[in-house]
Amino acid sequence: MNEITVYHWLVIAWMALAAVTFVALLFVTAPYGRFTRSGWGPRISARWGWILMETPVLATFLVLYGLSDRKSNPASLVLLAFWAAHYVHRSLVYPFRLRSSRPTITVAVVAMGAAFNVGNGYLNGRYLFSLGPELPASWLLDPRFVAGALLFWGGYLLNQHSDHVLIGLRSGGETGYKIPYGGGYRFVSCPNYLGEMMEWGGWALACWNLGALAFLVWTVANLAPRALKTHRWYRDTFPDYPRERKALLPFIV
Ligand SMILES: NC(=O)c1ccc[n+]([C@@H]2O[C@H](COP(=O)([O-])OP(=O)(O)OC[C@H]3O[C@@H](n4cnc5c(N)ncnc54)[C@H](OP(=O)(O)O)[C@@H]3O)[C@@H](O)[C@H]2O)c1
Repeated sequence: MNEITVYHWLVIAWMALAAVTFVALLFVTAPYGRFTRSGWGPRISARWGWILMETPVLATFLVLYGLSDRKSNPASLVLLAFWAAHYVHRSLVYPFRLRSSRPTITVAVVAMGAAFNVGNGYLNGRYLFSLGPELPASWLLDPRFVAGALLFWGGYLLNQHSDHVLIGLRSGGETGYKIPYGGGYRFVSCPNYLGEMMEWGGWALACWNLGALAFLVWTVANLAPRALKTHRWYRDTFPDYPRERKALLPFIV
């Protein structure tokens, strides 16, 4: 079997695993942050957790780009910039902005996250830079790319602003939780997750391949159940929590 055939089977298996994960996460919440609990093994700080989980995907993508003979292709370069903008921030900037150094993430979550990220980096980078058809420069004017780019960067801004609001809720050595206000929080409890989904929805449109679509499916599978649980947690924890606020999609869910 050649690599492209293996690749297509891997993408199908990857999407099936995302569907199983989605169902599992409706019943079992990933043990990190406000949902950390005993019985899941050792924990480390969120800062180290994010660095260890996210740098492998940045490295995987850069290695696959380095191995490619499409390094000066404009579409490859632009999509590489999208990916790097997200993952340089997530793996090397965001962790150092977090205020609390409590051990809130289990090593099991970090290991699963890192393994997922390497697989995801391969499925996206290998197709984009080597296995898939080479995208022409004119792709950057295609309506699918333009709509995808707008969605990606809109999601990027929403995600970063929403994370910024959460980080700003604590000062000094504070570790407790407060009600976030402003920006996307006027409408939903988890605008950071909504922004993340918009980013990878935009990515799927801009790349227009199944590996990129599988990443969107995984993002929804991971974050939609967590948004529902976080929303319920806010309502149960704060009696004055804004009643009109939805969980994830403004005015809908
Ligand atoms: N692509 C994916 O599949 C995926 C998966 C997971 C996360 N992410 C992204 O990674 C980022 C972080 O995710 P996350 O699940 O850790 O987000 P989160 O639970 O909202 O927490 C983000 C940070 O804010 C703090 N925080 C949250 N709510 C707070 C409140 N009400 N008051 C004070 N501090 C609060 C948390 O502290 P504690 O740690 O003490 O709770 C944590 O440091 C998000 O941008 C998310 O979109 C992406």
